[in-house]
Amino acid sequence: MIGGRFLGQNRRSAAPRLDLSHNIILYLEGISVSFDGFKALNDLNLYIEAGELRCIIGPNGAGKTTMMDVITGKTRPDTGSAWFGQTVDLLSLSEPEIATAGIGRKFQKPTIFPNHTTFENLELAMAGDKAVWKVLFARISSEQADRIDSVLRTIGLSDKRNVLAGSLSHGQKQWLEIGMLLMQSPELLLVDEPVAGMTPQETERTAELLVSLSGTHSVVVVEHDMAFVRSIARTVTVLHQGSVLAEGSMDQVQNDPKVIEVYLGD
Ligand SMILES: Nc1ncnc2c1ncn2[C@@H]1O[C@H](COP(=O)(O)OP(=O)(O)OP(=O)(O)O)[C@@H](O)[C@H]1O
Ligand SMILES: [Mg+2]
Repeated sequence: MIGGRFLGQNRRSAAPRLDLSHNIILYLEGISVSFDGFKALNDLNLYIEAGELRCIIGPNGAGKTTMMDVITGKTRPDTGSAWFGQTVDLLSLSEPEIATAGIGRKFQKPTIFPNHTTFENLELAMAGDKAVWKVLFARISSEQADRIDSVLRTIGLSDKRNVLAGSLSHGQKQWLEIGMLLMQSPELLLVDEPVAGMTPQETERTAELLVSLSGTHSVVVVEHDMAFVRSIARTVTVLHQGSVLAEGSMDQVQNDPKVIEVYLGD
């Protein structure tokens, strides 16, 4: 495949190779998910380009989190297909296999280790599921230390490297968790309501962080905070009742009468 882009060679050999030759990192087609007869997702189609930053908005219950559950293998759809690049069939992989393939997800509640330092948290994230004591007593290579330093700079926590993670502010914990995801070198990052509970300053820095990650990563952000979405948005997708209601620039979707009626009206 001449001219094609292949990424992910550095990941563990079990990871399928990501083929971005068509410049699309994620394909969701005809995805439906029912819970006791209720359609949380209803023939959903979504395409994410390599390196793009996509915002997903929509009313409560629109299916935004369920969509992330399908992408990460937590929920299996009743119908449809989900592909990571051209060749990785997400519906054939387990949750850990999807993570290894290069999809990282940030949950709202941070899953950091509060009694370890910021640096140690990143060290633990780099090691994956190895025992904590083994990781912290092993010597890391200078290459690994450089990698942690680089992630600390990206998330803006270089000066907090030796601070216990439990003592970080709410926003700093969220950034640390994004850093822990980055240690796994994901190609696609899914972030659900990242700025909930953040101060305005933290929200602004989170916007800068997510924008800085796009390009080298593809980033899908679900958020209700419209000022935040406006500040980072390139393309916005509006979900409603489990399918795409509108898609386009922030101005396009904000002026779309259908969107105003179901979501932005009040
Ligand atoms: N495990 C489940 N069992 C039953 N119903 C569920 C389950 N998960 C989600 N639902 C339902 O599916 C619908 C979509 O939920 P989802 O969490 O995806 O919405 P959302 O767009 O993320 O909403 P919010 O903005 O409030 O986070 C909701 O009506 C929800 O109650
Ligand atoms: Mg949700």
